[in-house]
Order: sequence, then structure tokens, then C-alpha cells
Amino acid sequence: MIWTALLLFHVALILFLILSGRSRSKREPPLDKGIIPWLGHALDFGRDASKFLAKMKMKHGDIFTVRVAGLYVTALLDPNSYDAVLQDSVTLDFTRYAQVLMERIFRLSLPSHNASAEKALMRRHFQGESLTCLNSIMKGNLQSLLLRSETPQDRENWKQDGLFNFCYSLLFRAGYLTLFGAEKNNPNRDSSAIYEEFRKFDGLLTKMARNTLSPEEKRTTSSVRQQLWSLLSLGLHGKKAEDMSWLQSYLQHLQEQGVDEEMQRRAMLLQVWATQGNVGPAAFWLLGFLLTNPDAMNAVKMEFNSLSWQVDSPQHLPLDKLQNTPVFDSVLNETLRLTAAPFITREVLHNTTLRMADGQEYDIRRGDRVCLFPYLSPQMDPEIHKEPEKFKYDRFLNMDGSEKRDFYKGGKRLKYYTMPWGAGKNVCVGRHFAISSIKQFVFTVLTCLDLELCDPDSSMPKVNASRYGFGVLQPMGDLQMRYKLKGTF
Ligand code: HEM
Ligand SMILES: *[C@@H]1O[C@H](CO)[C@@H](O)[C@H](O)[C@H]1NC(C)=O
Ligand SMILES: *[C@@H]1O[C@H](CO)[C@@H](O)[C@H](O)[C@H]1NC(C)=O
Ligand SMILES: *[C@@H]1O[C@H](CO)[C@@H](O)[C@H](O)[C@H]1NC(C)=O
Ligand SMILES: *[C@@H]1O[C@H](CO)[C@@H](O)[C@H](O)[C@H]1NC(C)=O
Repeated sequence: MIWTALLLFHVALILFLILSGRSRSKREPPLDKGIIPWLGHALDFGRDASKFLAKMKMKHGDIFTVRVAGLYVTALLDPNSYDAVLQDSVTLDFTRYAQVLMERIFRLSLPSHNASAEKALMRRHFQGESLTCLNSIMKGNLQSLLLRSETPQDRENWKQDGLFNFCYSLLFRAGYLTLFGAEKNNPNRDSSAIYEEFRKFDGLLTKMARNTLSPEEKRTTSSVRQQLWSLLSLGLHGKKAEDMSWLQSYLQHLQEQGVDEEMQRRAMLLQVWATQGNVGPAAFWLLGFLLTNPDAMNAVKMEFNSLSWQVDSPQHLPLDKLQNTPVFDSVLNETLRLTAAPFITREVLHNTTLRMADGQEYDIRRGDRVCLFPYLSPQMDPEIHKEPEKFKYDRFLNMDGSEKRDFYKGGKRLKYYTMPWGAGKNVCVGRHFAISSIKQFVFTVLTCLDLELCDPDSSMPKVNASRYGFGVLQPMGDLQMRYKLKGTF
């Protein structure tokens, strides 16, 4: 009896190995399946995707295919060849994988989802005059959260907080109020409660995306999700089309597609994540680098001072005055070079051929995924950026103080020398809003607060390696600091 069972088991195992086997054909990229059946390299990938991909790059070069949890993922790591993927949005599809994640993370399915209509809507509301308007609402929200009436004694006391929590919380709440909080008197819109729940959700996000939640984490996840859905109310009032905010237009668009209220709430959580999930962490790294690099801090303060000396109070500095800030821009680019680590993932809809910059061609199979990881190259590539692990605030400045755009690899001038916003057809729609939110935040903090590290010798925390691939990185632990309002406020 036991022998039959064992025999059957072995037959099943061998069959499984044969069926799950796949071999490389000559024109395909090097194939590395890993030794564990089906899972392949999933464990290494999840633990520290950056380290894993760097190791594979050493072994196979700039393009290779790995097996990850039953899927075959072709990684492409040569920035000179990225356009082959970014420009082909027909064969290499952005939306399918996005929909898989929508279902896994947000329990959201939109059967008649029209991605191009949604993007057109977003473009309309996040550029031009609408953007100017959003920026000024954001500015008001940041200031009122930061300077919110405290008792006079309270103002003189130092307050202590972790820098990450301080930045994330402030930017999340201000951004949330700006994009989702048009109605002032709705008690359900308490942005602090939403922030607290959102942080729990955010902490579980990578595991949701990878399907690796433990049974207990699964329970926590569903209760946090439930809580967030109920906190996000749907305020949709009849308005003329030209007066509608982005959120109102978005909800109306969903209604027109026959999406019910339950799914609309879920879609709201997706939008909260897409619009708020990266800005706070980016601001943390930026302020942290300034606090631990006095030269950089002085340069940024000098630039801000030169803009605001004409106005009596920096609070009244018109937004357009904040536009010409080459030093700050370089600091932001350098910050994101070091900390923005998204995967640019596409699903292969038909068998296709990728042509690399060096003329080599590789066949790619339908059903696989193609993944770019600009963090490894260009961003951390020592051939492109000297001492790539170091924060150099003027890395993106020429000697004369103008913006530096000339970076080289293999003797070739690069089109993509840092890629925090993606590129091509699916480049981040909200980047201008994100940039001006971060700039406004840093400006307000530096002009209104005295801010210092609790331990002046502390250095930046390490990054949490489990988040490679999911946008802006987050720190392990936090950087303790204290702050109080400056005397004049
Ligand atoms: C520091 C902050 C941010 C970073 C680093 C960032 C990064 C990115 C990246 C890398 C992509 C491209 C993904 C791909 O090609 O696969 C993307 C797409 C997108 N981002 Fe952002 N983002 C940020 C903030 C924002 C904000 C504030 C908004 C909205 C107001 C936003 C809205 C979007 C949308 C809608 C897309 C999808 C574009 C499409 O469908 O083609 N992002 N973002
Ligand atoms: C999606 O929206 C675009 C732009 O609004 C429209 O041209 C297109 O016909 C729509 N596609 C579908 C399948 O509804
Ligand atoms: C690192 O990130 C993961 C996933 O977001 C999270 O579960 C874990 O608690 C984080 N670790 C630390 C030390 O912050
Ligand atoms: C920062 O990077 C973006 C591309 O991501 C570029 O458009 C911008 O001009 C850069 N600014 C500076 C000062 O390097
Ligand atoms: C795609 O390529 C694979 C592997 O080369 C092949 O087995 C398959 O038949 C091709 N499919 C189509 C539709 O050409």
C-alpha cells in the first residue's frame, strides 16, 4: 500500500517536473529557473529583489529570464535598451498586470475598465490651470496642518517624532484633504484616522502583492481594508462638468460604467494609495539627507532665502516664486535616484522580439512578463553615477549651477539617467503635483520650524529590502528628531 502511494507520488513529481519544465531556445534570453520546482527564485526575489537581480546580472548579463512563483519574468537592465519596452505599449501591456494587483491588493475588479479614459481624466486634472489650483489648495492644507492653532506654551515646547512618521503623516493628510476632502464638515473624513489605518495597510502591501500573507496577516488585512472602505465616503454631488474636481469626475466615470457603490469605495482606496503612497516617503528621504548633510542643507536654505527675502513672511511667498529652484531640483533628483525603486512591469501579449541597443535580438514569449528595474541601472550604476551609494546634492548640477543632463554609459549619452517616474506612455501622471507638493512641504518645514536630529551624529536608517519594486523605498526603523515652531509664527 505504502509503496503504491510512494510510487504514485514519484510519478506525479516527475510529471510535474516535466510539465513545469521549459528550456531555452537559441534566440531567447538566458533562462534561470532556480532549483525549487514552480517557486523558482520567488524567495530570493521577495527577500531583496535588488540584491537578487544584481546577482543574476553578474551571472547572465543585462537580459535574462527567471522563474518566479510559476511565472517567467524577463528582466532587462540596460538603460540604453529601455525604449524597446517603453515604446511598445501594444505588445507589452501595462494594464493587465495592474489589474492583477488591483484584485489582489484592493479586491477591486472593474470589468469594463477603460484605462485610457481614466488616464485622460487624470491628465486633465493634474496639469495646467487645474494643477495650479491643486497646488494652492495643497499649500493651504500643509500650512494649516503644520501651524494649526496650538496654545502659546505648546508652541515653545520641542516636540519629538520619527522623521518618517512626521513627513508621511503630514503629506498624507494634506494630500488627502486636497484630493479627497472637498467637503469640510464631513466627520467621516478625519484624515488622521485614515492615515493610521493606511499605514497598517501599506505595511502589508508587498505581501498582498506577492500572495505571501500568513493566515493571521490575512485576517488583519481584511479588517484594515474594511475599515478603510468605510472611512472613505463617497461625496458626489451634482455639479457642472467644468466645476468638477478630479475625484468627482472619476466617481462619475465609474458610475457611468455601471460600477456599484461598494466597488467605488474600493476604487477610492486604490486612488488614495496611488496618489499618497510615495510622496511622504520621498519627502522623508529628502529631509533626512538634508539633516545629515550640512552642505546640502545650507545650499537649499540659501536658495529658499534668496526667493523669500522680498516678502515679509515666507508663508505669503507666491507659489510661482518657488518655480526656479535648481538646487532643490537637484536634491530631489538625487534623493529619488537613491530611493525610488519601482519595477516597470509589462505583460507580453504576443510572441515578440526585443532589440537591444547593441543590436542583439531576443525572442520573448507570450504570457511572460518583462520587467525593467531602473534602480540598478541607471540609478545605482557606478559607470553612470560615480560612488552611486553616496548622496551628493549637486550631482545633477553643472559647475555654473545649471541643470546637468549629460550622463554616459558605454560611451553613449543616456536618454534615461534616472527614472523615478517611469517613462514613455505610462510615465507618472501625477509627477508635477508630487514634485510641487514635496517642494512646498520642504519649504514650509524649513521656514516655519526649528528642526533637528535628536542625536546629531545619527546617520540615515537602512532601507527595508522587502520593498524593492514597489515605488519609493521605506526605512527600517526611523530617524528621531525634534521640532518646534519658530518664534515668528
Ligand atoms: C514621489 C511620488 C511618486 C512617484 C515616485 C511615482 C512613480 C510612478 C511610476 C514609476 C509610475 C509608472 C509605472 C509604470 O510605468 O509601470 C507611475 C505611474 C502613475 N502615477 Fe505616480 N508616482 C508618484 C506620485 C504620484 C501622484 C502624486 C499621483 C497622482 C496625483 C500619481 C499618479 C500616477 C498614475 C495615475 C500612474 C499610472 C499612469 C498610467 O496609467 O499610465 N503618482 N508613478
Ligand atoms: C475608452 O475611452 C476612450 C476615451 O474616452 C474612448 O475613445 C474609447 O472608445 C473607450 N473605449 C472603450 C472600450 O470603451
Ligand atoms: C519592512 O517591510 C515589510 C513589508 O512592508 C514589513 O512587514 C516590515 O515590518 C518592515 N520592517 C521594518 C523593520 O520596518
Ligand atoms: C530632474 O529629473 C527630471 C527627470 O526625472 C528632469 O526632467 C529634471 O530636469 C531634473 N532636474 C534637475 C535639476 O536635474
Ligand atoms: C510562441 O513562442 C513559443 C516558444 O517559442 C511557441 O511554442 C509558441 O507556439 C508561439 N506561439 C505563437 C502563437 O506563435
